[in-house]
Amino acid sequence: MLFGVEFKAFHALILGFAAKLFFIFKTSAMHKVCSRLHGPSLFGKTDQRILVEACVKFHRGCGVLCQKSAVKHPPPVLPQIPPCDFKPEPYQGMSKDRLLEIRKNNCNPMTMKVTYYKKPVFINQGYMQWLWDVDGRRYLDLFAGVATISVGHCNPKVTEVAEKQLRRLWHTTAIYVYPQMQEYAEKLASLLPDPLKVVYFTNSGSEANDLAVLMARLHTGNFDVITLRGSYHGGSPQATGLTSNADYKYPVPSSMGCHNTMCPDVFRGLWGGSHCRDSPVQTIRECSCSPGHCQANDMYISELKEMFATTVPNRIAAFFAEPIQGVGGAVQYPKNYLKDAYQLVREKGGICIADEVQTGFGRTGSHFWGFQGHNVLPDMVTMAKGIANGFPMGAVVTTAEIARSFGKGVHFNTFGGNPLACAVASSVLDTIKEDKMQENSAEVGTYLLTELAKLRDKYEIIGDVRGKGLQIGVEMVKDKASRDPLDPQAMAEIFEDAKDMGVLIGKGGLYGQTFRIKPPMCITKDDADFFLAVFNQAVQNYMERR
Ligand SMILES: Cc1ncc(COP(=O)(O)O)c(C=O)c1O
Repeated sequence: MLFGVEFKAFHALILGFAAKLFFIFKTSAMHKVCSRLHGPSLFGKTDQRILVEACVKFHRGCGVLCQKSAVKHPPPVLPQIPPCDFKPEPYQGMSKDRLLEIRKNNCNPMTMKVTYYKKPVFINQGYMQWLWDVDGRRYLDLFAGVATISVGHCNPKVTEVAEKQLRRLWHTTAIYVYPQMQEYAEKLASLLPDPLKVVYFTNSGSEANDLAVLMARLHTGNFDVITLRGSYHGGSPQATGLTSNADYKYPVPSSMGCHNTMCPDVFRGLWGGSHCRDSPVQTIRECSCSPGHCQANDMYISELKEMFATTVPNRIAAFFAEPIQGVGGAVQYPKNYLKDAYQLVREKGGICIADEVQTGFGRTGSHFWGFQGHNVLPDMVTMAKGIANGFPMGAVVTTAEIARSFGKGVHFNTFGGNPLACAVASSVLDTIKEDKMQENSAEVGTYLLTELAKLRDKYEIIGDVRGKGLQIGVEMVKDKASRDPLDPQAMAEIFEDAKDMGVLIGKGGLYGQTFRIKPPMCITKDDADFFLAVFNQAVQNYMERR
């Protein structure tokens, strides 16, 4: 009781002090930075008093920042995070400082390099589209562990299946017959068109792509493989050869026989217009192509032909492409590009490989697989990430004919297709179907894309909005005329601001210029509205500061 009285008095004192401070902020040009506070939105508190309290709290830690800012508008009412009934467990682990210390001293140094945010997010728990940090703050997760949490964090249906399987059998390798692998292989194959019916299990996307390269070489008897610039196909020594992004390359001979052709990026590339891509949103570039004809496509295909004429032998092993580039920043190609490229590749004796590591499992909304949106039939499909909602797993699906060419040696993978992974992945497929997640991707994704396009029209620094379903990219530019990438500092500010207001998104693109939105496929329209309000606010805050 005594504590209560004292607390109230202290509270009143602080509020009085805060109100005075707020008055000073208003008159001495300081509150703009304070308007970026996450406190009110995260806890659903938007009244002015609490905003003032939050300002005081923020000011204590960031006085220098506040002093630098300039007032133009009253503090905006920050977007409110949609409600959620789930109660996370309280965090009882190590302090944040200790976690960072261990991360610095004992973890792969790259871990520090890839840690997102100036003030990192320390995650405690996840449930569906939500993540809670160790302080109990809730975030809307629109990056899904890099496009991996397909059906929601700890989705109860999948978790129940995993728990049952954990009690029954974890591992034996495929030297014995256990039902989970067969059941899943049949279920997965049934979702692919003929003749893609033979499934190889791996533990990651890189491993799947390594295997695909080996099989393509053995099947064709050729060596050279072509990928698109800006692509990401993995981080293993072989896959870094396929990947075309300098940040992921090392000065070692990992790229033997791998070549990258010009990416048919209709926004940033040499050619592109206003009808090229399969998306509810087109680029801001003009074009005068007649319906059914795309000059940009012709030009990019002529680049590929040039590559055949100059860079590779007359016979090649394979052509790899993501249906929509992931790490590259949701880059989309002209509608017929893959169809025309596949034809040329096959004329050169190569097989065509669709890397569905990000685009598979309904994410693009219109189809279960990204390649289906391009109206092509690959000879091999590689997959991982969303396949098992975060449980490590990958796969290659190919034809019986290609599988036969590979049968000369013994291919063995200790963990590939283990009972746990297969049970989880099987439940993911059931959940996508039962809970209509592909349909939800199409609906919420299309809504997000069309609303983001309105923000693109509003802000000079939003150059392009693209994607399909819940595979979305928002490319940021210095200005629309130059299309020069927005500088990394500006990107970081908007990114951090969105996080502070309660939304986690990703970054990508060759210059780190594209925000990536690839949420669990269970997000709702309310979540989309919350994100749109937060993103609008973060961009507006940046525009006012610069
Ligand atoms: C399209 C694509 N392919 C392959 C990979 C490699 O997958 P993993 O990280 O599971 O090895 C990734 C990873 O980001 C990817 O995005």
